[in-house]
Amino acid sequence: MSVVRLEHLTKTFSGGTTAVDDLSLTIGDGEFLVLVGPSGCGKSTVLRMIAGLEDASGGDVFIDDQRVTDWAPKARDIAMVFQNYALYPHMTVQQNMGFALKLRHTDKAEAQEKVRETADLLGLSAYLERKPKALSGGQRQRVAMGRAMVRQPRVFLLDEPLSNLDAKLRVSMRAELARLHQRYRITTVYVTHDQVEAMTLGDRIAVIDKGRLQQVGTPEELYRAPANRFVAGFMGSPSMNFATVELGGDADRVTMTLGGQEFGLSDVVRRRPDLARYLGSRVVIGLRPAAFSVAESPGVAALTIVPLGVESLGDEKHVLFRAPLADVSVAREGTDDMPVTVDETSGAQLWTAKVTQRADLAIGRPVSLTVDLSEAYFFDPVSGEAVVEVPVAAPVAAAA
Ligand SMILES: Nc1ncnc2c1ncn2[C@@H]1O[C@H](COP(=O)(O)OP(=O)(O)OP(=O)(O)O)[C@@H](O)[C@H]1O
Ligand SMILES: [Mg+2]
Repeated sequence: MSVVRLEHLTKTFSGGTTAVDDLSLTIGDGEFLVLVGPSGCGKSTVLRMIAGLEDASGGDVFIDDQRVTDWAPKARDIAMVFQNYALYPHMTVQQNMGFALKLRHTDKAEAQEKVRETADLLGLSAYLERKPKALSGGQRQRVAMGRAMVRQPRVFLLDEPLSNLDAKLRVSMRAELARLHQRYRITTVYVTHDQVEAMTLGDRIAVIDKGRLQQVGTPEELYRAPANRFVAGFMGSPSMNFATVELGGDADRVTMTLGGQEFGLSDVVRRRPDLARYLGSRVVIGLRPAAFSVAESPGVAALTIVPLGVESLGDEKHVLFRAPLADVSVAREGTDDMPVTVDETSGAQLWTAKVTQRADLAIGRPVSLTVDLSEAYFFDPVSGEAVVEVPVAAPVAAAA
């Protein structure tokens, strides 16, 4: 088992693209770290540099305090599973899985035993004599995993290994991966752009955007306390809803106007004293879809919306509606790397609310949604940095 440490790792390709920009990150012994981020953000390049398949332009890779930056891939004792898990088509499952051991001149009986044991674990025992073309996608995926596992490498690198599987198989393979990791505890770096996979598999998640590390933490930390707007929008499905609002009122009673309705923010400001700095100016508010519910009684501060779409997901409903943006001149809140959902016909930015299945909703019929502002997030409109919540201090015991 091993600790992997990346120090200021950078990759600039000859064309001038900086795919990885000053990445520093330590993956603990036996940890399952998920690297997540949008397409092209540099995830595969990071893995390839750890594996030694790509030279770093700057910075270093350490494994157990040994600097391996210039080591050949073979010397690093790392196993990598690629998205297109290239199995050898002319070899049987058994031969595919045993190939790395054969290359290492492992004792034949011992190699066979290892392959048998791993195949057993992966539910592949019945297929050992088959060739890849006679296997389903999920079985091939498991062979690719098994091929990497028999070696018991120091580090496991997985690049979107489930992306070719259908939704149901992904879920079962995800559970299987988690179980395997429980058992072997091999230090693992797992790449995906699927935030559900990231949330369910990772001990910790590292979010990357444009080659730069945005935040690293447990799934809970990233979801509860995103460091910036990018992370906030990336973690959670459907995504967080954003709008720029102006904070009004005064220090004693802070308010904001959303969709023509005034909301009191004093409680919110008490927990986020830094918000007071935005009094009289603009701040970005972020609301997760679950922060809304259908108003039970009239009179409470609520947003009146007209559903443009209602998606019933069995145990909950997603309601799409026009974002209640104060200022039509900022009708689009999206940025290149943080696109917003937009209505195809009107071009309007859309928000999503997640409500109970029981909610009586119809497209085009106005409905009032209450907003749980204790679940609101706030971001600086320029830097995108979160205005952090201050933990509620425990009451200080009076001095005796
Ligand atoms: N050999 C190369 N030469 C030049 N540019 C490259 C090369 N390989 C990757 N890139 C660029 O580096 C950036 C990061 O690529 P990378 O494959 O690491 O992204 P990724 O996060 O794995 O994306 P995806 O989720 O689509 O697999 C991209 O802009 C890509 O075009
Ligand atoms: Mg990739």
